[in-house]
Amino acid sequence: MLSFSDSLVLSLWSSIQRTLRSHRDNKLIIWRIPKNRLSEQTRRTRVNTASVVELTLGVTMQLPEIRKERSTDCGLIRAVTEVAFREMPFSDGDEQDVIDRLRSAKVLSLSLVAVIEEKVVGHIAFSPARAGDESCPWFALGPVSVLPDLQRQGVGSTLIESGLGQIEDLGALGCILTGNPEYYRRFGFALSPKNVPPNEPEEFFMLKLFKATQVSGPISFHKAFYGDV
Ligand SMILES: CC(C)(COP(=O)(O)OP(=O)(O)OC[C@H]1O[C@@H](n2cnc3c(N)ncnc32)[C@H](O)[C@@H]1OP(=O)(O)O)[C@@H](O)C(=O)NCCC(=O)NCCS
Repeated sequence: MLSFSDSLVLSLWSSIQRTLRSHRDNKLIIWRIPKNRLSEQTRRTRVNTASVVELTLGVTMQLPEIRKERSTDCGLIRAVTEVAFREMPFSDGDEQDVIDRLRSAKVLSLSLVAVIEEKVVGHIAFSPARAGDESCPWFALGPVSVLPDLQRQGVGSTLIESGLGQIEDLGALGCILTGNPEYYRRFGFALSPKNVPPNEPEEFFMLKLFKATQVSGPISFHKAFYGDV
């Protein structure tokens, strides 16, 4: 049995989370710890070879199952999105409507839910984006949301990484989003002022390239983002 400092446990924990998220089947069940409770609750850590890592810590939670939305999820997706964005100062308050409009317009290319103990706790939407040079397919990420009580525990990252993997499998040239650069940089997005479409803020417009090595001109979100279609 080995004992580690909090900082070492944190670093080890980040690496475990990344490894687990790279498993697309999401069937692994692990012990989870919110970082802000680590200092008081860390008791002991047992590391048993490289393949099996068991953290014995105070707080537990399952890695979410990520699956495509079902018709019965639509109301739950609305509810999760609404409550997640409610306190966000940048929110337009209509993110749940954007998802419904994308679905009605049949351009919800990928809609994934995060499920813990059979409860929908998070959601992510991908829709087609349009490049000025007419290359395709490009995708737009968002909205993405996690129930407030379960934020900062890796659910959002699991949804985003799973979704990006799936659009890459669909042949995505790249993906755009409007969001906080601090957060999305970790998934390979970069600010891309030369591709900002009208109506989007340059300081929050981000791009991640997959098959494409470059793209010129604006890349636009579907019109369902901006109102009825
Ligand atoms: C954004 C959101 C989906 C992230 O999901 P999550 O499960 O909380 O995120 P994770 O646990 O995977 O990642 C947590 C990390 O992201 C950071 N983070 C979360 N939301 C962030 C945001 N809006 N801006 C900057 N950083 C953010 C946290 O500080 C934390 O960083 P750390 O690991 O260095 O401590 C979730 O916080 C949410 O639903 N927020 C409200 C809705 C929203 O803002 N959606 C995105 C709009 S662009």
